[in-house]
Amino acid sequence: MADVTLRNLRKSYGNAETIHGIDLDIRHGEFCVFVGPSGCGKSTLLRMIAGLETISDGDLSIDGQRVNQVDAADRGVAMVFQNYALYPHMSVRENMSFGLRIAGRSRKEIAEKVDDAGRILQLDALMDRKPSQLSGGQRQRVAIGRAIVRDPKVFLFDEPLSNLDAELRVQMRVEIAKLHQEIGNTMIYVTHDQTEAMTLADKIVVLRAGRIEQVGSPLELYENPKNLFVAGFIGSPKMNFLKARLVADGGAPTLDCGGARLPAPAWLAAGDPGAEITLGIRPEHFDRTPNPEAKLRIAVDVVENLGGTSFVYGKTAGGETIIAEMRDRAIPRPGEDVEIGFRMEDARFFDATGARLQPKA
Ligand SMILES: Nc1ncnc2c1ncn2[C@@H]1O[C@H](COP(=O)(O)OP(=O)(O)O)[C@@H](O)[C@H]1O
Ligand SMILES: [Mg+2]
Repeated sequence: MADVTLRNLRKSYGNAETIHGIDLDIRHGEFCVFVGPSGCGKSTLLRMIAGLETISDGDLSIDGQRVNQVDAADRGVAMVFQNYALYPHMSVRENMSFGLRIAGRSRKEIAEKVDDAGRILQLDALMDRKPSQLSGGQRQRVAIGRAIVRDPKVFLFDEPLSNLDAELRVQMRVEIAKLHQEIGNTMIYVTHDQTEAMTLADKIVVLRAGRIEQVGSPLELYENPKNLFVAGFIGSPKMNFLKARLVADGGAPTLDCGGARLPAPAWLAAGDPGAEITLGIRPEHFDRTPNPEAKLRIAVDVVENLGGTSFVYGKTAGGETIIAEMRDRAIPRPGEDVEIGFRMEDARFFDATGARLQPKA
């Protein structure tokens, strides 16, 4: 069983620590995605698992065995890089065979494995071509094929689709998902693209500045972000954030937010009056139904019509920017002043430090 376990894993370059004690359990067969902004330590962490970077402190186990000191070649992992790293003078077949030839495997075994990988990746007809005769997507498939023939316990991918154009990226994303379904190995996949993370992962690990912000399934992170960072990182277009203040002036407590008064949930109303909080609401949770619980007025700046759906960009009375996704026919026009509504149960609340505020269980 190719579980991967990280215990207080740390990495320092000289005196500067860049990975600050990561604890993580990746289960056998899981598709785990490391996601976060550029420079947050995704590649470093993946390379530490691969054995391409030394581990400064902590324990890394693969398949129940501590592998901190084990050579990359003996960890049972295979890595696929963003830039493919193919040998230009070798054919597709030779590129995929090379590692097995070096390892002294028999001709018969090599031929079987390479043919098998070629079939899975639909490279059968391209086996004798050189990398220069392939498209970007085909090259990336050869790089994946080279990993498959090694039959690793764990596949490691570092932004494998970043060099492809948008359409090909979507296509290869689906192929990687199919590959995981077909072979079922543990996969660890690094990306800065939250859409890739949402669509591929069983488990998403959100990283920021060398620390884990949150671990969970795509829907857990989408529904229940622990803090402002995760709430803003997961979801596209981003969750809207509005400054809000709790007001208790005699009647039922309300939220002073975006130039409007919104009903405050009872659990929130029990908090400090006057406390500065942030209300988060996703673009898809707005609508123009006649009787929404919570209403905001926005002055519409721009409308992006995508056919099935439209993104309406506007400003509240307080000057805060709002993006609302609209699917009905009553799409407002730029320059209009409109009322949009949402349900308070779809709103998320955060305190001044960015931590999520929730009802006590
Ligand atoms: N060889 C190195 N020497 C010093 N600092 C490094 C080295 N490699 C990476 N770093 C630093 O570690 C941090 C994480 O980098 P990296 O893992 O490449 O980020 P990501 O892949 O998330 O964009 C960055 O601040 C980067 O500058
Ligand atoms: Mg990187």
